[in-house]
Amino acid sequence: MAEKIPIGADHAGFELKERLKAELRKLGYEPVDVGTNSTESTDYPDYAKPVAEQVSSGLAKRGILTCGTGLGMSYTANRFPGVRAAVAWKAEIAELARHHNDANVLVLPARFVSEDEGVEILKRWLETPFDGGRHERRIAKIERPT
Ligand code: RB5
Repeated sequence: MAEKIPIGADHAGFELKERLKAELRKLGYEPVDVGTNSTESTDYPDYAKPVAEQVSSGLAKRGILTCGTGLGMSYTANRFPGVRAAVAWKAEIAELARHHNDANVLVLPARFVSEDEGVEILKRWLETPFDGGRHERRIAKIERPT
């Protein structure tokens, strides 16, 4: 069965989201679109929350978000326990976010990457494994209150 990947965007990320959905389908994944559905102005937390919730609860293994800078989406998603949302504007950052940080939400800054760059970043993030080892200890510390 195809892996379901929740994906969300605000108005600034809407067009990139549509392209990413098509690429995900080509790669054999099933994107689960939480909106938005147009370029009409809207609020990024309304889309970051349902994606982060699905990852935090374990319903989905990973999720994808995009807004203008990626920042609002990442601030919102990273408030959910167990969510590690990484803003990536280059494929190398997505790769390191997987290798070192086990990033389970990819956030793309739609106003700062082309659609083709977005697809390249997405592919690198999807295919890169977590290194584990010393990085496990560091990730565990993120969730600890002190
Ligand atoms: C929308 O104009 C913009 O503020 C939003 O897409 C995002 O960049 C916020 O962090």
